[in-house]
Amino acid sequence: MPLPDIDNSQTLHLRKAAMRDVEPMLQLIAHWARRGAMLPKSRDVLYKEIRDFYLLETQDSSIAGTVGLHILWSDLAEVRSLAIHPSFQGHGLGKRLVLGLEGEARELGILRLFAWTLEPEFFKRCGYSEVTLEELPPKVYKEYSKHAMHKRI
Ligand SMILES: CC(C)(COP(=O)(O)OP(=O)(O)OC[C@H]1O[C@@H](n2cnc3c(N)ncnc32)[C@H](O)[C@@H]1OP(=O)(O)O)[C@@H](O)C(=O)NCCC(=O)NCCS
Repeated sequence: MPLPDIDNSQTLHLRKAAMRDVEPMLQLIAHWARRGAMLPKSRDVLYKEIRDFYLLETQDSSIAGTVGLHILWSDLAEVRSLAIHPSFQGHGLGKRLVLGLEGEARELGILRLFAWTLEPEFFKRCGYSEVTLEELPPKVYKEYSKHAMHKRI
């Protein structure tokens, strides 16, 4: 099903995701996965990981963007499934979501964030640096076709 357009002049509200958001989140992630920009997410994994996720919601309850913070180890978490609705690209929302994760990570005592991506330049704008596969901790599942991005916070 194609993604519906959203009026991008609406005010946005950042909040934690809830079960009611799973279907629109899957639709947004599937939109980008079909275009090869990110990995698809299955419904059952999203149910299990829903507490990892934040989203930006419009006044008419549409989802402008989403991102997950998944804890990997005592000092390391992964930024996952970052997706901005096409109507909202280029408005600073991706950066807002990625930087917004840092507060929660710090509160938890997590000092390092990590992401796999095909958009390394975007992550560099968020303060991340590219690292080699050899520099990654063994705990990290390696996605060889993507760029590994790392940030100390
Ligand atoms: C990649 C993506 C998350 C960027 O989100 P966005 O809201 O459009 O980006 P922003 O407006 O927050 O951009 C922040 C900065 O990154 C830069 N940027 C954004 N996308 C970029 C790209 N593809 N290449 C280079 N720079 C990019 C912007 O110019 C901006 O720079 P500035 O801080 O100097 O002004 C979004 O386009 C998206 O969802 N793409 C499809 C899914 C995807 O690729 N997800 C990430 C993979 S894990």
